[in-house]
Amino acid sequence: MKLLLSVTVLLAFLAAYFIYTPLPPTVSEPWKLMLLDATLRTIVKVNDVAHTLGLSNHVDVLNYAFGNLGAPETKSSEDVQVSDTAFAGVQVLVFQSTLKSEGKKRGVVYVHGGGWALGTTRRGFYNLLGRQMAKDLDAVIVSVEYRLVPNVRFPVPYEDVLLATKHFLQPEVLARYKVDPDRVGISGDSAGGNLAAAVAQQISIDDSVSVKFKVQALLYPVLQALDFNTPSYQQNQYMPILHRKVMVQFWLEYLGTNPSHLQAMLVNNHTALDVTQVEAVRAKVDWTALLPATLQKQHKPVVQVHGSSKILEELPALLDTRAAPLLAERDVLARLPQAYILTCEHDVLRDDGLMYGKRLQDAGVAVEQDHYEDGFHGCIFFTSWPMYSSVGLRALENYITWLQKNL
Ligand SMILES: *[C@@H]1O[C@H](CO)[C@@H](O)[C@H](O)[C@H]1NC(C)=O
Repeated sequence: MKLLLSVTVLLAFLAAYFIYTPLPPTVSEPWKLMLLDATLRTIVKVNDVAHTLGLSNHVDVLNYAFGNLGAPETKSSEDVQVSDTAFAGVQVLVFQSTLKSEGKKRGVVYVHGGGWALGTTRRGFYNLLGRQMAKDLDAVIVSVEYRLVPNVRFPVPYEDVLLATKHFLQPEVLARYKVDPDRVGISGDSAGGNLAAAVAQQISIDDSVSVKFKVQALLYPVLQALDFNTPSYQQNQYMPILHRKVMVQFWLEYLGTNPSHLQAMLVNNHTALDVTQVEAVRAKVDWTALLPATLQKQHKPVVQVHGSSKILEELPALLDTRAAPLLAERDVLARLPQAYILTCEHDVLRDDGLMYGKRLQDAGVAVEQDHYEDGFHGCIFFTSWPMYSSVGLRALENYITWLQKNL
């Protein structure tokens, strides 16, 4: 009996130790987030062990956990007709509202997140989101099943989204789906926000595309890889859902490079002062000028005097606006449609979104910055039982309301 008690106490202690992560008191429902984080860490561990044992590819287990589990939910419901099809050879899911409304429908190209390596819209959260958006917006949602890392690398995911988008934007295709060409938008979250922002830029400057987007809505987007020490990267480096190191790993995998660059990039060695290729774009990621002082707080820029120019030589994509839309020229930004940018205080990517919003505004674009003081990366995911969070519910509602008003 005594032994049983001691074992129970020990196990409870270990569980609490594993689950407990110091979190700022301002984050929405810290205990839920801790549990979620512990679950994710367990999955990552299982994933790593399976990979080390040669049982799986390095993201297989993560992919299952991230909503690829179970049968595809491609059945139509009363409100929404779902079709699993291809646009210009790229897999897409089309969610069409079946409301018998007068006139034409809205259209949205949606790009799901997951570090360019995870996620699908055929099941789970993104499937539900596609249905909800189609219904609430009386819209046709084209959710792109772009090919994922590690099967492909940059620029393939970008090119997949661009191809599918250009196909959808053709007047005769929009007409077939009864979509109003004046009411089409593009949206995406996290790495999907990266792809959506990059594709929106390309569409806005491509004279061969006659239909242009009316809006872009970016949810905690990834927009640059030159500074992994922005105040939000510094402040949130161990924040659940997306640790700083994990974000840099996603970048390295996406760009298909040597993982040994990780440590050097964490200290900004790839953009040290002696790396002259960066000169031309430094101002575009200069958070000391682009962020309000209230968010810079006590954080100091991490600028190395000597670094490694080899990294940029190997990875020219770090300076490519198709990978890092924050680096676009002002005259490209000026041609973009009005933007909604959702950012979360407790998210390494907060400043990517805020700096992009500032640069868009400086270029004359109307921007709604929807910032959540208690938000964390991926919060929009956590909107259904058992993992719902109050900030997730608020953010999802405000996002859909913004689209209802502006698209
Ligand atoms: C950064 O670059 C400097 C100069 O090349 C080098 O001495 C240092 O070891 C690098 N740091 C990391 C973490 O790679």
